[in-house]
Amino acid sequence: MSTKLKLYLGRKIIECLKRPTSFTPTELLPWIQIGKNHNEQCMEMTMPLEVLENNLGITNITEILKIQPDDIIKRISYGNNRANRNLQFDVERNIFIKDVIENCAKPDFNLKPKTIVFDYSSPNIAKPFHFGHLRSTIIGNFLSNLNKFLYNKVTRLNYLGDWGTQFGFIKVGIDELKFSEHDIRNNPLKLLYESYVYANKLAEKDSTILERAKLEFSKLEVGSEDHLNFWKDYMGFTRDELVGIYKRLGVEFDEYNYESMYSSRNIQNVIQKLKDRKVVQQDSDGKHVALVDKKTVSILKSDGSTLYITRDIAAAIDRFDKYKFDKMYYVVDNSQSDHFKTLKEMLHRLDLPWANRLHHVKFGRIRGMSTRKGNAIFLKDILDECREMMIQKQIESPTTKVKIDDSETSDILGVSCVIINDLKQRRQRDYDFNWEKVLQVQGDTGIKLQYVHCRLHSLEENCGVKLPPQLVPEVLVEPEVTNLIKSVAKFQDILYRTEEQFEACILVTYLFHLCNDINKALKVLKVKGADPDIGAQRLLLLVKSRDVLHAGMSILGLKPLKKM
Ligand code: ARG
Repeated sequence: MSTKLKLYLGRKIIECLKRPTSFTPTELLPWIQIGKNHNEQCMEMTMPLEVLENNLGITNITEILKIQPDDIIKRISYGNNRANRNLQFDVERNIFIKDVIENCAKPDFNLKPKTIVFDYSSPNIAKPFHFGHLRSTIIGNFLSNLNKFLYNKVTRLNYLGDWGTQFGFIKVGIDELKFSEHDIRNNPLKLLYESYVYANKLAEKDSTILERAKLEFSKLEVGSEDHLNFWKDYMGFTRDELVGIYKRLGVEFDEYNYESMYSSRNIQNVIQKLKDRKVVQQDSDGKHVALVDKKTVSILKSDGSTLYITRDIAAAIDRFDKYKFDKMYYVVDNSQSDHFKTLKEMLHRLDLPWANRLHHVKFGRIRGMSTRKGNAIFLKDILDECREMMIQKQIESPTTKVKIDDSETSDILGVSCVIINDLKQRRQRDYDFNWEKVLQVQGDTGIKLQYVHCRLHSLEENCGVKLPPQLVPEVLVEPEVTNLIKSVAKFQDILYRTEEQFEACILVTYLFHLCNDINKALKVLKVKGADPDIGAQRLLLLVKSRDVLHAGMSILGLKPLKKM
């Protein structure tokens, strides 16, 4: 039984499912002929009962109708391990090769696209961009890319933390350190952070500082024009600096949102609803609280000002009005599990039927991530350090093809290493950060993926053979071809599995295997010096494999290089 049969079965059922009218088992049956002889039309659907059972977990065709369409499709396209092990490659090998090569680098079907919002990265102004934000950025970007690739309608949101009492401290710090607007424009992330730290230090010795900070923030909350304007300017500078860093990382957003959009004066309607529906109760201190999982959670301060949770409630409502999303994912570390539980619970208590479309995509900590210089991490410093180390490695490497002063390539390589090091971990696990491991030239790192990609590019450029217009599988007889084709054929299944589990490591591991299979093929399937027709066919096979590698790397958020 070949994968081809499995995939075709999937496509045919999908065709049935896509029909607007309901369908009956009799309609479905022609597509699932069990044990029938091959003929042009139904060969594609022939499948022994055992495999059908393994793939769908059902024995009776009518049971298919009880399963959700999405589910059937997933089950069909993955199969399970037992079924995969049983798959043999002998049926219709050539048709299979052709089909794989023609369709390998794109998803094999298109369901009704979902509207999905991803909230990721979302750092706080004037605080370091810590591991949580880095992982959120990398994972959120990858998930958005993947869903876009699978034809979903994706909106990428960066929700900047720019509100709360600590912002009074920043203003005091700026005033005390006498930073000018010009200073801050040039270095917003660091200077705002310094101001914050400085004001906090002052407050330890001088109790009036806290009062001043509170006063400054209350001026913001009530919306004093002057205060809001300086604040908006500084947020703008910060955003510009972030955009630069995101660009280096290959990350983009459709929208920047700010917590300040949901300050108390903007969300009175939501606050009123929380009170009217008795979702919150006032306690003896005048705060408004709610009981969630037997814990008391503050929803509004006694002076009526908002908290992180209040702003998230209002933001979710605002986003649903705007996007009518099918799903909204918050890519935020494990430590905020309770926060997102509360958020969903509050929306449920407000009777919003879409509350269960919200999901917290959690992840573990990175232990020990710091630059060599110090502990407060600024992403820029990490990336700069990475680039320096890559330049050093490139100087030392005998095979380097790019000029040593090409720091853009080094930057891309460094970033690839940081991304792959992160995405190869299981999402929820904590892991240790180790510069040596991250930037390893040998082993499963971002360099390996980039290197194989470059190798295939240089092969195409330098072999002197032209790509043929069509694949002729009959001349590709070596076991290495079979091996590579099988590997390439798995790509689509891998994508669906990755998407279902939100686990990039499935795709990363797959790409490492694919690279190994490409390397094995490169050893045996010579292009240069072979019979020209055979050489051209081999080149086509390799270039198509490269397309899959390219697609996979791009989904993970890497910028595939042509030379290194
Ligand atoms: N700024 C928050 C933090 O650094 C993360 C925000 C995540 N998104 C959200 N909608 N709560 O902790």
